[in-house]
Amino acid sequence: MNWWETEFLAVKDNMLWIAGQSAESLAGRYGTPLYVYGKERILERYARLDDVLARHSPLPAHICFAMKANPHRGILRLLQRRGAWIDAVSPCEVETALKAGFPAERILFTGTSVSRADLRRVFAIDGLAVNIDAAEQLDLMSEVRRAEFPAKSIRVFVRWNPGIGRGFNAGIITAGKKSSDGTPVKFGVEDKKVIGVFARARRLGFHPVGLHQHLGSGWVREDFGMVQTAVDRLVRKAREVEKAGFPLEFLDFGGGFGPRYLKNRSVFPLEDYVAYLSAAVAGAGLSVKALAIEPGKYMVGDAGVLLLGVEYVKESYGKIFACVDGGTFNTVPRPAIYLQAHHEIVNASRIDGQAKARITVAGNLCETGDIFGRERSMPLPISGDVLAVLCAGAYCRSMASNFNLREIPREVLI
Ligand code: LLP
Repeated sequence: MNWWETEFLAVKDNMLWIAGQSAESLAGRYGTPLYVYGKERILERYARLDDVLARHSPLPAHICFAMKANPHRGILRLLQRRGAWIDAVSPCEVETALKAGFPAERILFTGTSVSRADLRRVFAIDGLAVNIDAAEQLDLMSEVRRAEFPAKSIRVFVRWNPGIGRGFNAGIITAGKKSSDGTPVKFGVEDKKVIGVFARARRLGFHPVGLHQHLGSGWVREDFGMVQTAVDRLVRKAREVEKAGFPLEFLDFGGGFGPRYLKNRSVFPLEDYVAYLSAAVAGAGLSVKALAIEPGKYMVGDAGVLLLGVEYVKESYGKIFACVDGGTFNTVPRPAIYLQAHHEIVNASRIDGQAKARITVAGNLCETGDIFGRERSMPLPISGDVLAVLCAGAYCRSMASNFNLREIPREVLI
């Protein structure tokens, strides 16, 4: 069995099958490039997390799907019916979640660098909890509330920056003073300002209800120690906030854990994490009534693949290229954006074969970096083969652009 096989992906007759259908038949029916998402896999991920939380958490726990990972309507509906919550980062995400059936009470708005126009849109939605990402954001919030919603009770929660962050790439470490490459981190309220933000929010007529952090994305096992430290910091800070006279309804630990993208990459110990944070909260004597976590990648990452058609196989200066009918920026942009992002690629038409070669899977955009995978060992493709780029369920369609005026592929949820 290949390391990437799940109930979503299987090998039959040396070909790739996706949720019980052959990749070739899906490609034939819908055309390539094509995103294919699996309902059962998403529900399995949700159920597993729900189960782990139910077994460990001393309090009800809200699984807030970070819909920026994949806002596909069918996926949202699926999770809505299971009782999920939503982490939305723009007014349009909030409105999309409402249209998919999420009640506003189950949506957290966690925008950054928010505008007055954003605030007008989100304050208009009754029951939505709005994140405060900066002490200075309160000026805008107060201005908009006074002008347009003076009588409204608006629930707010504070995203703080615990001073440490963790992620697989400098660009997505979202806490700490600086990212791993020295970039100043723009997110959250710094430690010493947190109590002041709670106090000012209340003075201005807002109703502060929660404390939030998000450290970054793409944790592996080696990150667990740092993540534990950050959990301790959040719980300690929550105690301080409550002592200062602000009882909290919920503590939000953010997202960050995900699927396995690479055979040799360790997997973050999800259950140990949930057990750890549950114990930390249980022993803290807080008045908190619920926990929240915001998984994006975990929920949908390995429940999606991108199918590509091989147009021709080219040899140049001793290298072999499988030239495919999609471009990274329009489909799976992660490897073109993040040096460390790896997506496994399998030849869905011939999973295994004697004639293995080192293949560079090249897209159809005018960029040298438009490469899905570089010199990967796989059976030599032929024109007409279907390649599958794995783990394409998260941050692929949602980050795809029309660069070169190429279309963004169709999506099917099966
Ligand atoms: N909550 C907040 C406030 C976030 O900003 C994020 C992601 C999440 C939750 C979900 O994180 P996850 O569980 O998916 O790691 N484009 C990048 C990922 C950026 C994530 C940014 N924030 C990528 O393709 O790897």
